[in-house]
Amino acid sequence: MAEKARIAVLVSGGGTNLQALIKAQTRGVLHSGEIVLVVSNQAQAYALERAKKAGIPTLTLLRKELGGQAAFEKALAEALEKNQIDLVILAGFLSILSGDFTSRYPKRIINIHPSLIPAFCGAGYYGLRVHEEALKYGVKVTGATVHYVNEVPDGGEIIAQKAVTVREDDTPETLQKRVMRLAEWKLLPAAAEMVSQKLTERNGL
Ligand code: GRF
Repeated sequence: MAEKARIAVLVSGGGTNLQALIKAQTRGVLHSGEIVLVVSNQAQAYALERAKKAGIPTLTLLRKELGGQAAFEKALAEALEKNQIDLVILAGFLSILSGDFTSRYPKRIINIHPSLIPAFCGAGYYGLRVHEEALKYGVKVTGATVHYVNEVPDGGEIIAQKAVTVREDDTPETLQKRVMRLAEWKLLPAAAEMVSQKLTERNGL
């Protein structure tokens, strides 16, 4: 039996959060789990290059090519099974997984969201839009949240949060970058370690 939780990271884009996880693994901050697979739902995702550079196997699953969401989730479940994945990390994965899928992995899928949930979250709140809405509302503090994934978008149990102060002169772009640098890239690796540790204890891995 493996000593570490086997982790699959799901991505769609640039992959800076994936990079933070890889770095944490190299530095031993993430030591109770190991990233053994990176899955992208976008063929051009730069995250795939980051994975390859780190020597992590990659898989691209395209919903359109596979024939829809159900087929995509079936292929994903098969890949998770085949790779004996214990924990799935959504790191900038811009597709909502169905309740059918998430209910098969209770407390085994986590997601990072760039706001303090329950503010500025749910369907449609992704990327710059989250920060645009935070600025529009005029909040003085925002941040990032790592949570378990269930059938409600951004609605699962909260694992960890980190606050970031909003500046007078922030634009959505400057705020997004600061939330990533000060919150997301620290919070996600720390939460990945915490959950991996729990899983290894629970499973006697
Ligand atoms: C991050 O802001 C993450 O919180 C959100 O999507 C963005 C992904 O960035 N879910 P990256 O691909 O990790 O660089």
